[in-house]
Amino acid sequence: MFMRNAPIGVMDSGVGGLTVIGEIWRQLPHEEILFYGDSARCPYGDRSTEEIELFTFKALDYLVGQGVKMLVIACNTATAICLELARERYEIPVIGVIAPGARAAIAATSNRKVGIIGTSATICSGSYPKALHATHQGIETFPLACPSFVSLVERSVTPAEALPIIKATLQPIESTHIDTLILGCTHYPLLAKMIQKVVGNDIQLINSAEQTARDVSFWLDEHQLTRIDLHDPFHVFLTSGDPLQFSQIGEQWLCQSIDVSHFDVWRTEFLQSTGDE
Ligand code: DGL
Repeated sequence: MFMRNAPIGVMDSGVGGLTVIGEIWRQLPHEEILFYGDSARCPYGDRSTEEIELFTFKALDYLVGQGVKMLVIACNTATAICLELARERYEIPVIGVIAPGARAAIAATSNRKVGIIGTSATICSGSYPKALHATHQGIETFPLACPSFVSLVERSVTPAEALPIIKATLQPIESTHIDTLILGCTHYPLLAKMIQKVVGNDIQLINSAEQTARDVSFWLDEHQLTRIDLHDPFHVFLTSGDPLQFSQIGEQWLCQSIDVSHFDVWRTEFLQSTGDE
């Protein structure tokens, strides 16, 4: 009973995880969320495997320590590098965003040519082609790293500044004849309108959030973890970055105001040990 009413722990390197939370709220409005966005260390996607593991597990350990009933790694980069290890490390269910995105793309493509855009770490990991081919070996994949996109989102740059960068970065997509493009970074749905404008309406964009939320729903059911508390859910948003900027982006994306607090998982031990807070 206690575990059923515990929150779902969700993490991302920054604001991108909000795109997954929006879908969890839509599909599972009674569930509570404890979210940690590590904007102080964002982007993860340009970092080494060791650093991505270090930062991701520090965040996940914190969420597990808070008693969450399930973990959602709402970050493709962290999913690519850490999902399997996280499933070995924790006793609670751990959901990533790559397999759901791959499944959604397979369902969407007609010509079996699928583009994947993501951070350098996600693209280098080969996780998306692997996930796509695990389900459908006939899919032709066209991966492209877009290292500049995450900071466009985190800095909330204007469309006038973002559009030329998006256009130049996506230029290699033009000759591929893909009909489906996976937004393989949870930050990218926040740029979806501009990405769609650049690639044209014949290419279907895939955001893994919807399918990920379905997986969350399935696992809650499977493990009998669906919340049964009748009180309205209380959500907690924590960021190691600027809470004001985070809440502004969150409100725009979620169309409702959110309370965001500054909290850094790396600072707690220091503050506790000095008694300094
Ligand atoms: N939202 C993360 C992802 O899905 C962002 C990446 C980053 O921090 O570079 O990959």
